[in-house]
Amino acid sequence: MDLTLTDEQRMLQEMVRNFAQKELAPKAAKLDEESLFPAEAVKKLAELGLMGIMVPTELGGAGMDPLSYVIVLEEVASACASTAVTLSVNNSLYLDCLLKHASDSQKKKYIPDFAQGKKLGAYALSEPGTGSDAANQRTTAVLKGDKYILNGTKNFITNGPNADAMIIFAMTDKEKRHKGISAFIVERGFSGYKVGKVEKKLGIRASSTSEIVLDNCEVPKENILGKEGDGFAIAMATLDGGRIGIAAQAIGISRAAFETAAKYSMMREAFGKPISDFEGIQWKIADMAMKIDAARLLMWRAAWLKSKGQKYTKEAAMAKLFASETSMEVTREAIQVLGGYGYCKEYPVERFFRDAKITEIYEGTSEIQRIVIAKNVLKEIVG
Ligand code: CAA
Repeated sequence: MDLTLTDEQRMLQEMVRNFAQKELAPKAAKLDEESLFPAEAVKKLAELGLMGIMVPTELGGAGMDPLSYVIVLEEVASACASTAVTLSVNNSLYLDCLLKHASDSQKKKYIPDFAQGKKLGAYALSEPGTGSDAANQRTTAVLKGDKYILNGTKNFITNGPNADAMIIFAMTDKEKRHKGISAFIVERGFSGYKVGKVEKKLGIRASSTSEIVLDNCEVPKENILGKEGDGFAIAMATLDGGRIGIAAQAIGISRAAFETAAKYSMMREAFGKPISDFEGIQWKIADMAMKIDAARLLMWRAAWLKSKGQKYTKEAAMAKLFASETSMEVTREAIQVLGGYGYCKEYPVERFFRDAKITEIYEGTSEIQRIVIAKNVLKEIVG
């Protein structure tokens, strides 16, 4: 594996870093404070071609690779974690899922507008009683004539209130447990589809999250992804890609917190010298820098495997787990370096700390990542 970025990837990184620091970072605190969806940011990201990063150009996307995707997400997250997850869900959980599993006619209908940022996508797997145990879906889909009728409630759906279409998972055959789950492309305007309760959150407050209520929701038969029973494998494979994106989000948040703390430590004096001269602070700075680097290497490895078309389930879980736990640690330590200032809104580290927490929860909790890693490692040992 070559760890040097290509000229294109470096240029992309620089372009998105400049854009994110100039356009997104100055607005992030206000969006967070007022829980305002980053609509203007999404529009600008679309103009830069970043709403469909891995989508081929013939379908309206940027035609870039998974490594470029995580480079973009890290930069966006270092400025605004809410904007990063909005971007990530559209790119990974919606578009990448359709790229892999949709028919040609579904791709033509449901990809180009979303890759160009004219419309926004989402992914609805979780339910009020079904989070980690994703196979235990309670939403049902029954075929009646030329339509599936969906009933149930999905919750914690990122982009839910703003999504124009989403991939919804539902049981078509309860007896078969995970093999009875199917995936559907559901449009906002379909009869029986309603946006439910909008969540008020601890962090990523500018990202929109809601319930989706399906009350005899009518979905055309041709909107099933693959065939009946394919849904669980589709959900899991999609989450493998999504988890690399969450790793990138966590790393972006960590980097922003680390840079704020490092700069502060060189400027703040105590006992007659900058606090960066004290070993107690230097050890924190060293640990933060090392763990961020390690997380990025795990993430790049997973993205690289994905770009080579190789299996990367374990590597994505490792990247997400390590990056999200690093993110909690780095943001906590950044607050500690800033002391009382870190606890107040004058500096952004308290927001970084709140934003970091969700990366240990969504797209599979840390506990679930450990299960995925252990299952795969044990399988490898048995051979
Ligand atoms: N790719 C493809 N197929 C996979 C797979 C993967 N990564 N992982 C599992 N499968 C397949 C298996 O091969 C198996 O298939 P067969 O029966 O044909 O052999 C099948 O799925 C069942 O596998 P398991 O026995 O491992 O499944 P399980 O029921 O034990 O569950 C789990 C495994 C890892 C716990 C899984 O349920 C899981 O990942 N749970 C967490 C769900 C999650 O991440 N939810 C987040 C919601 S999305 C979100 O947060 C979105 C948002 O808005 C930001």
